[in-house]
Amino acid sequence: MSGDQPPSPRLELAVGDITAEQVDAIVNAANETLLGGGGVDGAIHRAAGPDLLKHCRTLGGCPTGQAKITPGFGLAARWVIHTVGPIWHGGDQQEPELLASCYRQSLARADEVGARSVAFPAVSTGVYGYPMDAATQIAVETVRSTPTTVELIRFICFNDEALSAYQGALGAG
Ligand code: AR6
Repeated sequence: MSGDQPPSPRLELAVGDITAEQVDAIVNAANETLLGGGGVDGAIHRAAGPDLLKHCRTLGGCPTGQAKITPGFGLAARWVIHTVGPIWHGGDQQEPELLASCYRQSLARADEVGARSVAFPAVSTGVYGYPMDAATQIAVETVRSTPTTVELIRFICFNDEALSAYQGALGAG
């Protein structure tokens, strides 16, 4: 009800590789070491170049559900926000709360540096095994309910399963 609330960000879906995104910040689905890995994490480190790993070594890792920000180095994006999603253990180990926290914390990091456009991958839905429909619902609900000065959020779909899951989640809101 307050007139001071920023307007909600616009939400977009895009199919492709997040490393090519021309936004202020891209989000990485990292692990607690922040020292790289496979999936989107490997792709981001390859595209950013070795300075990203050098910088990440200074950060001391990141707990699950939290997020840390670095420069984008060789990427088009100025920043990378590294968040650590939960490993799926069946859903009763706080996975939904931790995944929602990843999105809130990533937006908090974006707000701190004044990023206006942010691209997210479907955090935890690859190696970490989070069911795609449930994960995309949390992604959409959380960014819709989190106050932020980010103006544009792009959900990057790496395959058709992700695209139809996000379409369902966006439609359901
Ligand atoms: N652009 C956009 N999305 C992508 C890309 C890409 N280039 N590559 C994969 N995806 P994952 P997680 C999608 O496994 O489940 C790493 O080794 C992919 O299809 O990258 O959070 C880390 O170091 C899936 O939907 O991340 C951790 O150890 C989504 O991105 C662990 O994996 C996330 O898949 C994190 O696992």
